Amino acid sequence: MNVLGIDIGGSGVKGAIVDTDSGELLSEKIRFPTPKKSTPKKILKCIKSDIIDKLNWEGKVGCGFPGVVKKNIVYSAANVKNKWIGVDIKKKFLKKFNLDCVALNDADAAGISEIALNDKINIKGVVMIITVGTGIGTSIFVDGKLVPNIEFGHLRMYGDSAEKYISNLARKKLNLSWVDWTNRFNEYLIYIDTLLSPSQIVMGGGVSNYFNEFVSKLESKSKIIPARNRNNAGIIGAAISFK
Ligand code: BGC
Repeated sequence: MNVLGIDIGGSGVKGAIVDTDSGELLSEKIRFPTPKKSTPKKILKCIKSDIIDKLNWEGKVGCGFPGVVKKNIVYSAANVKNKWIGVDIKKKFLKKFNLDCVALNDADAAGISEIALNDKINIKGVVMIITVGTGIGTSIFVDGKLVPNIEFGHLRMYGDSAEKYISNLARKKLNLSWVDWTNRFNEYLIYIDTLLSPSQIVMGGGVSNYFNEFVSKLESKSKIIPARNRNNAGIIGAAISFK
C-alpha cells in the first residue's frame, strides 16, 4: 500500500509517499521549516500547500506528531505551540483536506518503522528507540509490541527536561563538539540503563545521520545501533502505522 508519511517536528516538517511493505520512499522527501508560529492552523496550512499539493496526494496519510497522541488526539506539545493540545489530527485532515489520516507520536512512528524493517534488531525483549532531534523522543517495544507514548525525553536532568541538555538543538545552540555532546548523552544513558535495562537501543532523529562521528564514544550496557532509516524513520513509520 502507498501512504503519505508526514513527520511534524519542532524545527522541520517532512513528508514523502512511502511503500508500506518495503519502507521505500516513492517520492522526493519534502521538508519545510516549522513555522515560528507553530499552531495547528499554520502547520496544517503549510502541510497542504507544501506537501499534499506538491505531491498531488489524494490517498491515505500517516502523521507523526512531537507529543503524546492517543486515538489521534494530541495531549502534549513541548516543541510546538500549546494550541495543538486537544486537536484531533484525524478529524482535521478529514475536514480540511478530505483525507483519511492516522496520527501518532513521532518517536512511536520511528520505532514502528525500525521494528518492521531493521533486520539488525532482535525484537525479543525490550527494545528502545531514542530519536535525538529538536526534542528527545523515546519509544519502547516489548517483544515487538509498542508501549505507546513513553516520554523519557522529559526525565529530569539538571533541573529541567533531559532534552534541554542532550537534544540536537542543544548541541547546535551550544556548539558542542561530538565528544562533548556524547559525554552528555552518556549521562542520559545511565538513567535509561538503570530504569529500563533495554536489550537494544536504536538511535534515530537528526543526530543519527552522524552516528559514525560518535559511536565509538558511546557508553551503555545496552547494544546501540543507528536507525536503519536514520532521520526518515519517522516518515516511514507514520505511513506504516496506517492500518
Ligand atoms: C515530546 C515527545 C516527542 C519528542 C521528539 C518531546 O519534546 O514530548 O513526544 O516524541 O519531543 O519530537
